[in-house]
Amino acid sequence: MREIRYDRFGGPEVLTLHTDAPTPDPEAEEVLVEVSFVGLNPLDYKIRDGSSGRSKGLELPAGTGREMAGVVIGAGSGLDAAELGSRGLTPGTRVFGMRGPEDARGVAAEVIAISADDLAPIPGEIPDEDLARWAGLSLVGLTAIATVQDTARISEGESVLVHGGTGGVGQLLIPMALEDGASSVLATGRAANAERIRELGATPIAYDTTDWAEEVQRLTDGHGVDVVLDTHYHSTFLPSLDQLAPGGRIVALPSLADLSPALERGVEARIPAIVPGRDRLDQLAQGIRAGRYPLEVSEVLPLAEIAQAHRRLEEGHTRGKLVLDVRG
Ligand SMILES: NC(=O)c1ccc[n+]([C@@H]2O[C@H](COP(=O)([O-])OP(=O)(O)OC[C@H]3O[C@@H](n4cnc5c(N)ncnc54)[C@H](OP(=O)(O)O)[C@@H]3O)[C@@H](O)[C@H]2O)c1
Repeated sequence: MREIRYDRFGGPEVLTLHTDAPTPDPEAEEVLVEVSFVGLNPLDYKIRDGSSGRSKGLELPAGTGREMAGVVIGAGSGLDAAELGSRGLTPGTRVFGMRGPEDARGVAAEVIAISADDLAPIPGEIPDEDLARWAGLSLVGLTAIATVQDTARISEGESVLVHGGTGGVGQLLIPMALEDGASSVLATGRAANAERIRELGATPIAYDTTDWAEEVQRLTDGHGVDVVLDTHYHSTFLPSLDQLAPGGRIVALPSLADLSPALERGVEARIPAIVPGRDRLDQLAQGIRAGRYPLEVSEVLPLAEIAQAHRRLEEGHTRGKLVLDVRG
């Protein structure tokens, strides 16, 4: 089968398409999935170039990619027909999901073995044309839930600023913050993305054509915001501390973000951690199905063009999701 692997840490060129990889054997409690699409995330290139905490101890050669959508084609021991049926994962079912944080294997392959707990069925009425979006849903979706519900714990009437409102995570942070009762959401992005930010329910602030910090002050009558959700971090984290209302808090998304400048000022600052599992995948499925989470796929590239896709990701301006088409 076809599979992407790399045998050393480095640039996108280390990603290699193998056409003779062995089909994996599912272990106990694992399901065999024929992959249709793979969702890409900044984490993929951070692991690949060796800069992620997850690169440490990773055995090379390694596979790449964390999330996907595909079709169940088999299962390991411990998952008989009755058990698969009770989980809604019988062979032929379309599924989406992501590898749990402790599972270092990739998903950019024609067939993968993956824990049944890390999968959920895609509702039957979803057309196959929409599967790319489901492939890109689980990692950003579980991140957005962890950010809004577990970490920021947004409550009724709070004002929120999202940095990177049209990125993969940002497109879910805006509707989830509003769903949890935020009174208003401001979101930064390039001017070209302002209309999309408005569609998602937030007030756009164009960081490339205005001074975004001044705009926050103007739009909040000088009060600042209660919560900052910072998906960008690099140039936004420090100046955001001056945009917080008294008692405000900040959540930075990159796992290696340095929170000390906030903590030294007595500002509550945290980094979210994904909680994997079926309950939250089902929560995401319901949100997509009901039209509450209009996550966008901006580009679908063939599996063989994964290096090009990583280059795009590294530019840092992805709108919604970049997805790989794995089908033959
Ligand atoms: N802690 C965790 O468990 C966890 C989980 C998932 C992701 N993450 C991290 O979260 C971050 C975001 O992930 P993602 O998937 O949303 O990335 P992404 O899809 O690549 O989106 C990047 C976003 O950053 C915006 N951006 C770029 N420069 C900016 C600037 N100067 N000011 C404001 N926004 C700017 C872009 O908007 P424009 O195009 O408009 O510039 C785009 O919306 C990554 O660092 C990722 O590794 C952490």
